[in-house]
Amino acid sequence: MKTTNAGGTVIDEPKSREAVKPAVDKSTAAKPATKPSQIYVDGKFYAEGEAKVSVFDHGLLYGDGIFEGIRFYNGRVFRLEEHLERLWDSARSILLEIPMSQRAMTEALLETIRQNDLREGYIRLIVTRGVGNLGLNPEQCKTPSVIIITAQIALYPETVYRNGLSVVTCATRRTNPSALNPAVKSLNYLNNVMARIEANLAKADEALMLNDEGNVAGALRGITRSVVFEIAAETGIKVSETDITRHDVFIADECFLTGTAAEIIPVVKADGRPIGTGKPGPITARMVARFREMTRETGTPIYS
Ligand SMILES: Cc1ncc(COP(=O)(O)O)c(C=O)c1O
Repeated sequence: MKTTNAGGTVIDEPKSREAVKPAVDKSTAAKPATKPSQIYVDGKFYAEGEAKVSVFDHGLLYGDGIFEGIRFYNGRVFRLEEHLERLWDSARSILLEIPMSQRAMTEALLETIRQNDLREGYIRLIVTRGVGNLGLNPEQCKTPSVIIITAQIALYPETVYRNGLSVVTCATRRTNPSALNPAVKSLNYLNNVMARIEANLAKADEALMLNDEGNVAGALRGITRSVVFEIAAETGIKVSETDITRHDVFIADECFLTGTAAEIIPVVKADGRPIGTGKPGPITARMVARFREMTRETGTPIYS
């Protein structure tokens, strides 16, 4: 059996059929906020309506900054070290000096979750270049700003996790790494936004982006994807990473997408072609089930 992770990963595996359970359970689905969330901005907490950045922040003016999206489950932050490593790598690449240590950042993150009294949710961690003038020169910006927001998010309705989603190939190509390397998780996400607009216009759930060669665009070093590789290794599923084309996606037995916010989500239709049986398959179900276990049992404790 061949499973394609639409980022260039092909998973070979023997058969078995079980229903895919939703990757997001009710506890992580959107809930009405009971009180305004507390947002960390440069060492202080503000109620969400009061949390502000300057209109001269280059994060706003030029998308000059970096971010991470992180999830926490069952009172533990999942894969926190990997997210911080990637944030620091993004910072190095764009010559941005994060104004605190990784240890202090960990404490700020955990404290933000505690201030919001949460055990399950999503964290958006942002480091902007900071306040400068209207010129784009980052040397104008003396102090980067650190912002930490917690939220309850579910990217898709639960039915989509259960039944799978549809993708369409979009005309917007993934940014060439020599122009802006997608490995830098920067605040400049307009490339992805353009793809999303195309998916919306085509009434598809997601956009499938190609790179300049016309292959399915590989994601940045996905942290959820690396968890999938670990699960595959644990369960004896062979994984190989290679360039894949739209044709490979069309003829896959199964396909799923990975991401911290989306978690693991089955793809059942690509450009109008049903993938495999047109229903989420057994490998995806197995990945989702083990992923759920790992998210509940591992991670950095928030309250101890
Ligand atoms: C465009 C894009 N692709 C893939 C991913 C992979 O997500 P993660 O590394 O959080 O699993 C992300 C998020 O970081 C993303 O923004």
